[in-house]
Amino acid sequence: MKWDPDVYLRFADHRARPGVELMSRIGVDEPTTVLDLGCGTGSLTRLLKIRWPGARVVGVDSSSDMLDRARLDRSQPDDIEWIHADIRTWEPSFEVDVVFSNATLHWLDDHSALFPRIASWTRRVLAVQMPANWGAPTHQIPARILDEPGWPEEARSALMRDRVGPPESYREYLPGMRLDMWTTTYHQTLEGGDPVLTWVEGSVLRPVLDTLSEPHRTRFRERCAAEYRWAYPPLADGSTVLAFSRFFVVAER
Ligand SMILES: C[S@@+](CC[C@H](N)C(=O)[O-])C[C@H]1O[C@@H](n2cnc3c(N)ncnc32)[C@H](O)[C@@H]1O
Repeated sequence: MKWDPDVYLRFADHRARPGVELMSRIGVDEPTTVLDLGCGTGSLTRLLKIRWPGARVVGVDSSSDMLDRARLDRSQPDDIEWIHADIRTWEPSFEVDVVFSNATLHWLDDHSALFPRIASWTRRVLAVQMPANWGAPTHQIPARILDEPGWPEEARSALMRDRVGPPESYREYLPGMRLDMWTTTYHQTLEGGDPVLTWVEGSVLRPVLDTLSEPHRTRFRERCAAEYRWAYPPLADGSTVLAFSRFFVVAER
């Protein structure tokens, strides 16, 4: 799947806030090495470096477009290592104190194998945030539309599945670790026309749109936009409130 840094960064504040809240729950004073899995454009990776200036901070991502944007960002601090790799196959060759991952692992299959594997890399903390909004119209609307006849099979299978398990399952995947788990629903005020469509175009709809050519692409966008307007009606001042839930787990040795 191809990530677009410009589309993703349209709601940079709303997307960064859960990452900052996740970071605030990591009680490690002086880590030697901090790993950011699925670091994207690197804005949170830089915050990790600001929080722990003495640490070696390493961002890993499989999208060269996102990493190029991270490398281009000249804001301080810039002594961060960027690694172009796929988390599903990559392994660190160095010891790690904090493994951090914001809004990434819900794209990956089989958390029963993934979580023990990435937890085994850390000497102290694994901290993860993943969207938990599958039951909401953001995700149910495209799923329902793609269930209708007439869409290419490729588009149907490109829609992500809900890979985030119930909180209890992470207790099982991370045996022996002390867990701090919670879910937060953010009631986000979005501006502009069709802002919910714009929001999901930067995330859950990306792989679907990548597979669609015209006229399917325009028809799919129009269908989604109309249903999002109904599910998330604009308020009198033109803004739209989007409720979006996210699941957090901080696991400590
Ligand atoms: C929603 S963005 C989150 C970026 C960043 N963590 C943030 O919060 O701003 C998800 C990122 O995960 C990366 N990603 C998805 N699957 C990946 C994989 N298998 N290996 C490495 N990175 C992956 C994508 O390239 C993308 O940059």
